[in-house]
Amino acid sequence: METPAPENVVLVGFMGSGKSSIGRLAAKALGYQFVDTDQLIVERSGRQISEIFAEDGEEVFRELETAVIRSLVHLNRSVISTGGGAVIRAVNREMLRHAGFVVCLTANEDVIFERVSRNTKRPLLQCDNPRAVISQLLVSRREAYEAAAHCTIDTSLLSQGDAVEVLIAAISAHFEWNPSN
Ligand code: S3P
Repeated sequence: METPAPENVVLVGFMGSGKSSIGRLAAKALGYQFVDTDQLIVERSGRQISEIFAEDGEEVFRELETAVIRSLVHLNRSVISTGGGAVIRAVNREMLRHAGFVVCLTANEDVIFERVSRNTKRPLLQCDNPRAVISQLLVSRREAYEAAAHCTIDTSLLSQGDAVEVLIAAISAHFEWNPSN
Protein backbone atom coordinates (compact mmCIF):
# COMPACT_ATOMS: atom_id res chain seq x y z
CA MET A 1 0.00 0.00 0.00
CA GLU A 2 1.22 3.49 -0.84
CA THR A 3 2.25 5.72 2.07
CA PRO A 4 -0.28 8.54 2.48
CA ALA A 5 0.98 11.99 1.47
CA PRO A 6 2.08 14.06 4.48
CA GLU A 7 -0.68 16.45 5.44
CA ASN A 8 1.45 19.57 5.53
CA VAL A 9 0.96 22.81 3.72
CA VAL A 10 4.15 24.56 2.65
CA LEU A 11 4.08 28.24 1.76
CA VAL A 12 6.74 29.57 -0.56
CA GLY A 13 6.92 32.96 -2.21
CA PHE A 14 8.71 36.25 -2.40
CA MET A 15 9.33 38.52 0.58
CA GLY A 16 6.12 40.38 1.34
CA SER A 17 3.83 37.86 -0.34
CA GLY A 18 2.15 37.16 3.01
CA LYS A 19 3.56 33.71 3.87
CA SER A 20 3.92 34.21 7.62
CA SER A 21 0.76 36.18 8.34
CA ILE A 22 -1.50 34.13 6.07
CA GLY A 23 0.20 30.89 7.14
CA ARG A 24 -0.33 31.62 10.82
CA LEU A 25 -4.04 32.35 10.27
CA ALA A 26 -4.51 29.30 8.05
CA ALA A 27 -2.84 27.05 10.61
CA LYS A 28 -5.22 28.32 13.27
CA ALA A 29 -8.24 27.76 11.05
CA LEU A 30 -7.10 24.23 10.15
CA GLY A 31 -6.02 23.27 13.67
CA TYR A 32 -2.52 22.71 12.33
CA GLN A 33 0.81 23.63 13.90
CA PHE A 34 2.46 26.74 12.41
CA VAL A 35 6.16 26.52 11.63
CA ASP A 36 8.29 29.32 10.19
CA THR A 37 11.71 28.38 8.81
CA ASP A 38 13.17 31.87 9.39
CA GLN A 39 12.01 31.74 12.99
CA LEU A 40 13.63 28.32 13.45
CA ILE A 41 16.90 29.58 11.98
CA VAL A 42 16.87 32.44 14.51
CA GLU A 43 16.05 30.10 17.40
CA ARG A 44 18.60 27.44 16.45
CA SER A 45 21.45 29.81 15.66
CA GLY A 46 20.70 32.26 18.46
CA ARG A 47 21.13 35.11 15.99
CA GLN A 48 18.87 37.38 13.97
CA ILE A 49 18.85 36.77 10.20
CA SER A 50 20.40 40.19 9.62
CA GLU A 51 23.27 39.21 11.96
CA ILE A 52 23.88 35.93 10.12
CA PHE A 53 24.03 37.77 6.78
CA ALA A 54 26.28 40.51 8.18
CA GLU A 55 28.67 38.22 10.09
CA ASP A 56 28.83 35.11 7.88
CA GLY A 57 27.23 36.01 4.55
CA GLU A 58 24.32 34.67 2.54
CA GLU A 59 25.80 31.21 1.84
CA VAL A 60 26.00 30.37 5.54
CA PHE A 61 22.40 31.52 5.92
CA ARG A 62 21.41 29.24 3.00
CA GLU A 63 23.14 26.28 4.69
CA LEU A 64 21.22 26.93 7.90
CA GLU A 65 18.02 27.24 5.87
CA THR A 66 18.59 23.89 4.15
CA ALA A 67 19.36 22.22 7.51
CA VAL A 68 16.12 23.59 8.99
CA ILE A 69 14.06 22.43 5.99
CA ARG A 70 15.66 18.98 6.23
CA SER A 71 14.61 18.77 9.87
CA LEU A 72 10.96 19.43 8.97
CA VAL A 73 10.25 16.72 6.43
CA HIS A 74 8.88 14.34 9.09
CA LEU A 75 6.22 16.82 10.27
CA ASN A 76 2.52 16.26 9.87
CA ARG A 77 -0.50 18.56 10.13
CA SER A 78 1.67 21.65 9.93
CA VAL A 79 1.65 24.84 7.91
CA ILE A 80 5.28 25.54 7.08
CA SER A 81 6.15 29.07 6.04
CA THR A 82 9.52 29.43 4.31
CA GLY A 83 11.86 32.34 3.63
CA GLY A 84 11.60 33.99 0.22
CA GLY A 85 14.84 32.44 -1.01
CA ALA A 86 14.19 28.90 0.20
CA VAL A 87 13.22 27.79 -3.30
CA ILE A 88 16.54 28.79 -4.87
CA ARG A 89 18.18 25.46 -4.07
CA ALA A 90 16.86 22.42 -5.93
CA VAL A 91 17.45 20.26 -2.86
CA ASN A 92 15.16 22.52 -0.82
CA ARG A 93 12.46 22.44 -3.50
CA GLU A 94 12.59 18.66 -3.51
CA MET A 95 12.33 18.41 0.28
CA LEU A 96 9.50 20.93 0.44
CA ARG A 97 7.47 19.11 -2.20
CA HIS A 98 8.10 15.88 -0.33
CA ALA A 99 6.91 17.53 2.90
CA GLY A 100 3.49 18.43 1.58
CA PHE A 101 1.27 20.54 -0.62
CA VAL A 102 3.33 23.53 -1.74
CA VAL A 103 1.50 26.79 -2.35
CA CYS A 104 3.29 29.79 -3.79
CA LEU A 105 1.93 33.14 -2.62
CA THR A 106 2.60 35.94 -5.07
CA ALA A 107 1.98 39.66 -5.24
CA ASN A 108 2.78 42.23 -7.86
CA GLU A 109 5.92 44.32 -7.57
CA ASP A 110 4.18 47.49 -6.34
CA VAL A 111 2.39 45.60 -3.58
CA ILE A 112 5.57 43.78 -2.54
CA PHE A 113 7.50 47.03 -2.39
CA GLU A 114 4.78 48.66 -0.33
CA ARG A 115 4.61 45.72 2.10
CA VAL A 116 8.36 45.25 2.58
CA SER A 117 8.93 48.97 3.03
CA ARG A 118 7.15 48.66 6.38
CA ASN A 119 10.05 46.80 7.96
CA THR A 120 13.80 46.99 7.86
CA LYS A 121 14.65 43.44 8.91
CA ARG A 122 15.38 41.99 5.47
CA PRO A 123 19.12 42.10 4.79
CA LEU A 124 18.78 41.70 1.01
CA LEU A 125 16.76 44.91 0.87
CA GLN A 126 19.04 47.03 3.06
CA CYS A 127 20.60 48.78 0.09
CA ASP A 128 20.35 52.03 -1.87
CA ASN A 129 17.76 50.78 -4.32
CA PRO A 130 15.61 48.03 -2.81
CA ARG A 131 13.03 48.44 -5.55
CA ALA A 132 15.61 47.44 -8.19
CA VAL A 133 16.69 44.44 -6.10
CA ILE A 134 13.07 43.32 -5.78
CA SER A 135 12.65 43.64 -9.54
CA GLN A 136 15.76 41.60 -10.28
CA LEU A 137 15.02 38.90 -7.72
CA LEU A 138 11.44 38.51 -8.92
CA VAL A 139 12.72 37.78 -12.40
CA SER A 140 15.62 35.55 -11.39
CA ARG A 141 13.51 33.48 -8.98
CA ARG A 142 10.33 33.10 -11.03
CA GLU A 143 11.20 29.67 -12.39
CA ALA A 144 12.25 28.39 -8.98
CA TYR A 145 8.91 29.39 -7.45
CA GLU A 146 7.06 27.72 -10.31
CA ALA A 147 9.13 24.55 -9.97
CA ALA A 148 8.53 24.39 -6.22
CA ALA A 149 4.79 24.99 -6.14
CA HIS A 150 1.79 22.77 -6.72
CA CYS A 151 -0.39 25.87 -6.97
CA THR A 152 -0.13 29.66 -6.83
CA ILE A 153 -2.29 32.29 -5.15
CA ASP A 154 -1.94 35.97 -6.00
CA THR A 155 -2.47 37.93 -2.79
CA SER A 156 -2.07 41.41 -4.36
CA LEU A 157 -5.75 42.31 -4.14
CA LEU A 158 -6.78 40.06 -1.26
CA SER A 159 -7.27 41.01 2.37
CA GLN A 160 -5.55 38.60 4.75
CA GLY A 161 -8.91 37.03 5.58
CA ASP A 162 -9.77 36.50 1.92
CA ALA A 163 -6.32 35.08 1.21
CA VAL A 164 -6.77 32.56 4.03
CA GLU A 165 -10.13 31.51 2.57
CA VAL A 166 -8.66 31.05 -0.89
CA LEU A 167 -5.74 29.10 0.58
CA ILE A 168 -8.00 26.80 2.59
CA ALA A 169 -10.18 26.17 -0.47
CA ALA A 170 -7.06 25.17 -2.43
CA ILE A 171 -5.87 22.91 0.41
CA SER A 172 -9.28 21.22 0.72
CA ALA A 173 -9.46 20.65 -3.01
CA HIS A 174 -5.98 19.16 -3.01
CA PHE A 175 -6.44 16.79 -0.07
CA GLU A 176 -9.88 15.59 -1.17
CA TRP A 177 -8.69 15.03 -4.68
CA ASN A 178 -5.31 13.51 -3.81
CA PRO A 179 -5.61 9.78 -4.55
CA SER A 180 -2.88 8.87 -2.07
CA ASN A 181 -4.73 10.55 0.78
C1 S3P B 1 14.99 36.10 2.06
C2 S3P B 1 13.73 36.26 2.61
C3 S3P B 1 13.51 36.39 4.06
C4 S3P B 1 14.65 35.73 4.84
C5 S3P B 1 15.98 36.26 4.37
C6 S3P B 1 16.22 35.99 2.88
C7 S3P B 1 15.12 35.98 0.59
O1 S3P B 1 12.27 35.78 4.42
O2 S3P B 1 14.62 34.33 4.69
O3 S3P B 1 16.00 37.63 4.65
O4 S3P B 1 16.19 35.54 0.12
O5 S3P B 1 14.15 36.31 -0.13
P1 S3P B 1 10.82 36.44 4.09
O6 S3P B 1 10.43 35.97 2.73
O7 S3P B 1 9.94 35.87 5.15
O8 S3P B 1 10.97 37.92 4.19
